[in-house]
Amino acid sequence: MNLEKVVCNCMNVTSGMIKDAVDSGASTLAEVQEATGASTVCGGCLEDVERLVEYFAAERDSK
Ligand code: FES
Repeated sequence: MNLEKVVCNCMNVTSGMIKDAVDSGASTLAEVQEATGASTVCGGCLEDVERLVEYFAAERDSK
């Protein structure tokens, strides 16, 4: 996965920033929104952000 990829253009949030938020304890979309600001403006990235939160949380919890 490209962690440099910008997932949320409105807030300029990358995949890596979502991963960092999850690794720092965020487990839900709402918590990641709060931590990164991702998906708090137009909402166009919501599904992508949600998918990444689930992906990184599963990865974190499998360790
Ligand atoms: S692209 Fe993420 S809120 Fe607009």
